[in-house]
Amino acid sequence: MFYSDELIEEVRSRNDIVDVISSYVSLKKKGSSHFGLCPFHNEKSPSFSVSRDKQMYYCFGCGAGGNVFTFLMEYENMTFPEAMQALAGRAGMELPVQESSPESRREADARARLREMNKLAAQYFYVLLHHKRGEKGLRYLRQRGISDETIRRFGLGYADIYRDDLYQFLRQRGYTDEELKSSGLVTINEKYGGSDKFWNRVIFPIMDVNNRVIGFGGRVMGDGNPKYLNSQETKLFDKSRNLYGLNFARSSRRKELILCEGYLDVISMHQAGFTNAVASLGTAFTTGHGILLKRYTDRVVLSFDSDDAGIRAAIRAIPILKEAGLSIRVLNLEPYKDPDEFIKGAGVEAFEQRIAEAKSSLMFQMEQIAKKYNRSDPEEKTKCDHDMAQELAKLEDPLERSNYIYAVASEYQISRKELEALVNRYGTAGYEVRNERPTPANRVTRQEAKQESKKQPQKLLLTWLVNEPKLFDRIKGIISAEDFLEPLYHSVAIMLFEQYESEGKVTPARILNQFVDAEEQKQIAGILNTRLEVRLMPEDNEKAITDIVRKVKMTSLESKMSRSNDILEWQQLIKEKADIMKLHISL
Ligand code: UTP
Ligand code: MN
Repeated sequence: MFYSDELIEEVRSRNDIVDVISSYVSLKKKGSSHFGLCPFHNEKSPSFSVSRDKQMYYCFGCGAGGNVFTFLMEYENMTFPEAMQALAGRAGMELPVQESSPESRREADARARLREMNKLAAQYFYVLLHHKRGEKGLRYLRQRGISDETIRRFGLGYADIYRDDLYQFLRQRGYTDEELKSSGLVTINEKYGGSDKFWNRVIFPIMDVNNRVIGFGGRVMGDGNPKYLNSQETKLFDKSRNLYGLNFARSSRRKELILCEGYLDVISMHQAGFTNAVASLGTAFTTGHGILLKRYTDRVVLSFDSDDAGIRAAIRAIPILKEAGLSIRVLNLEPYKDPDEFIKGAGVEAFEQRIAEAKSSLMFQMEQIAKKYNRSDPEEKTKCDHDMAQELAKLEDPLERSNYIYAVASEYQISRKELEALVNRYGTAGYEVRNERPTPANRVTRQEAKQESKKQPQKLLLTWLVNEPKLFDRIKGIISAEDFLEPLYHSVAIMLFEQYESEGKVTPARILNQFVDAEEQKQIAGILNTRLEVRLMPEDNEKAITDIVRKVKMTSLESKMSRSNDILEWQQLIKEKADIMKLHISL
């Protein structure tokens, strides 16, 4: 799917970035920029800036940055075509129908039809719940303490006892047996025809982060087997990339997300005000889930069932969450079985209290080790201490390790010195392996530091050019896009010089249209939004900019010299170098 550059630019320029971002983030004007709390990381004082001139945003805290497309892609989790459509719609523009291969066309159609089927089915179940035929379902949900408001918010529904009413309903809407089968909502039997997958159950529609229904869970009302039925995976529904409740939790005001096991746990928690709760969908927790969570938070509170199965699930999920870079705390629900029962039994405040008291995942792991032993027996206690030390030795950060040694020693009555010695013994056993990995401190070699010092002036010069376009005229004949040697800066320079050449001004946000890679976009947004230290005296600014121009040109000339074998060219380059030393740029 490709849109022309012109069209992309038109959509971009018709959506003012300050207006668009203002509908998500509260912004205050300060100088030439608007500032607010960054939606991409947690912070207390605003370092997120949006520039109307540049039509870009940049966070000085976390480095997130880009143009209006990037913002929607990052914040709303949209693909580029989706952001294009949303913004075109916002500007009242009609996008042309995409030219695409018949195959991808068919694929897109099938997905669209699948979406419609899911939406229709969700509406059908919802209406049924409020119909006379749905009395039993409504009674069940109410008896579980679910309010009408929550039923509406989560779109809960009911599948009645007729075995093919949804099938008939969707057939009437024009869907073929083939399509219906692919949705997982019905099964088709050659002899008996179609029958509904869900019947005589209350229904939980599953939505993706953009609030689109992608599947269903259905619970029996009372006891029965299986307790829950879930939609199979389809083109739309990937269980390891979706979490129940995330469509609401993503915009919760709370900083961390609560991860639990069940549909009803999520619903209960949201109803009680914990709108940051999500659950995996009747499957084990996967790496995909970890990555998804990390998009919205750095911190997770595990609130799995307190029975053995729940503890096992928590122990399995912890390394996956760690791998995704999340910090984890584990909530203790005892004596209740799950969050739903806890809130009903002990109340909202008690639950809030338990969140505040949730243990770090490491202390939770220690607790699990301790449970396996009778610590009042010296022999067992010794074994137990060893197990704990072994676990502690896995911590790589020395400070973290020493803090935990301290905490574990005092909580479990172990001599701190002994525990430390033990941990070090287990630690050195794996020392060589660990030490092969470079630590952040020695990762930057001197070579790289030198490279970095050459890159810096190029970056500063780009920033100056964007902020003071009249500089283009001043450096004409001295610096061209060719002098930016760093590949990414080079591409940016080519576009900026060209924009200035043909239009007499620069449009930084347009440059970003050309970069699809999020990492590159961030870097470029960083370059174009660097805060310049503008000095009070014009002479000082001129000195600074002259110095930058010299450095950029010198690096470029030296690189040419190192590549040249031609003596005449050498002489020319040496002369140019001498000239550069005499250079003075006025502003
Ligand atoms: P639970 O058995 O803990 O159910 O399963 P629950 O969510 O607490 O529901 P209630 O309170 O008993 O009504 C946790 C989750 O595991 C999946 C569902 O996603 C459920 O929410 N599950 C459970 C299934 O997919 N199938 C089952 O048969 C049971
Ligand atoms: Mn439950």
